[in-house]
Amino acid sequence: MAVEKSDDLVALCKRRGFIFQSDEIYGGQKGLYTFGPMGVELKNNLKQAWWKTMVWQRDDVEGLDASILTSPNVLKYSGHESTFTDPLCDCKDCKSRWREDQLTDSTCPSCGSKNLTEARPFNLMFKTAIGPVDDGSSFAYLRPETAQQIFTNFKNVLDSTSRSIPFGIGQMGKSFRNEITPGKFIFRVREFEQMELEFFVKPGTDEEWFKYWVQARIDWWVEQGIKKENLEILEAPSNDLSHYSKATTDLLYKFPHGFEELEGIANRQDFDLGSHTKNQAEFDISADVMENKDSTTKLAVQDLETKKWYIPYCIEPSAGVERGVFALLNEAYKEEEVDGKTRVVLGLKPHLSPIKAAIIPLKRNNEDLVNQAKDIKNTLQKLGMGRVMLENSGNIGKSYRRHDEIGTPICITVDFETLEDKAVTVRDRDTMEQKRISISELASYYEKYFD
Ligand code: GAP
Repeated sequence: MAVEKSDDLVALCKRRGFIFQSDEIYGGQKGLYTFGPMGVELKNNLKQAWWKTMVWQRDDVEGLDASILTSPNVLKYSGHESTFTDPLCDCKDCKSRWREDQLTDSTCPSCGSKNLTEARPFNLMFKTAIGPVDDGSSFAYLRPETAQQIFTNFKNVLDSTSRSIPFGIGQMGKSFRNEITPGKFIFRVREFEQMELEFFVKPGTDEEWFKYWVQARIDWWVEQGIKKENLEILEAPSNDLSHYSKATTDLLYKFPHGFEELEGIANRQDFDLGSHTKNQAEFDISADVMENKDSTTKLAVQDLETKKWYIPYCIEPSAGVERGVFALLNEAYKEEEVDGKTRVVLGLKPHLSPIKAAIIPLKRNNEDLVNQAKDIKNTLQKLGMGRVMLENSGNIGKSYRRHDEIGTPICITVDFETLEDKAVTVRDRDTMEQKRISISELASYYEKYFD
């Protein structure tokens, strides 16, 4: 049942312009997806909701947008060059490649052979050349997480703002991982976006802050429309922690293929600031870090009471945008029987809907109706809730179907009576109720959807 629903959801994503496979006209690229006209709006709305909660509404967080191309030094001292690997094995019979930890009974999923090579570490980072000479002497990585430049910019942010511990730096943007087996639609891809907060705290207060952020992140996903019963918490066992982590809690969502990670919250301790810092010996670093002879900067703060310099601990909530979009689409997708027909509707929260309202002139290209519809569109667009669409198809039934499928909270029809009585018919996506509303009241009626 879940799999069928997933197929229908993937079909809807293509049909209605949410998600396409990348480079499809050349056969498609595995693990790479393109967000279409509706997908880009949904994705941006999700990112904006994250930014509002994690940066704007707080008094202890600043934002950042760092470069994607990353110096090898950053990823050497972060530990990614040596440890950011997955166990790779080859099937000697059909020559396919697999992640050994994802195989069942050490069997090739492609041909069923057990004739596999020993697993060897495969580094997931993509490399590229910097500058016009590609002789291997100057290269960069495409960042595998957005987090590292938050650590390397720690002092820049501190010096240019008036922050003191505890405070955080938030960043959203692309990350790249050369996954051995991408798949499950947009769940595991090779190019994706992350929404990450690095929240710096005094050592000793880290466990309290860790608990705080786990709860805050659960609450946020529920506000975005994820049902509580579809979320689970998994505390990573100590033998499965990333190299930087003292404790990690994963928020798992019930994806169509089962419960899997949507977001991870990690206690990164003083690992990253400690490993990127100059003259590490001056500090009492508790994590096991590599000796650093390249850094030019101390990433430390002064305790105002004791005057002693220390390296803060860091709590990191890190969520994937693609996984968020997938979870929200899965949560919102509904099929209902209406008058003997199946109605497909995306019950997205209005702040996430790609289109906030559709304005539909009853007759296509009728100048008076279209002009009136344009006026309404411009008025609602200016309210800043997001994209409002003029739907000049002349087919009300078809427009309602399309906007139900993309999750538009309200459709507003402009008919010939509108020209006389200055009122429009407003249809609610969820109840399908229709009401006549005067144009003068429309803006406040519309704004209530986003309270
Ligand atoms: N900075 C910490 C970090 O990157 P992670 O658990 O590797 O931790 C964080 O990644 C989040 O990024 C995951 O919870 C997931 O939502 C998303 N993510 C990671 N790899 C992904 C992939 N290959 N495709 C899509 N999303 C991914």
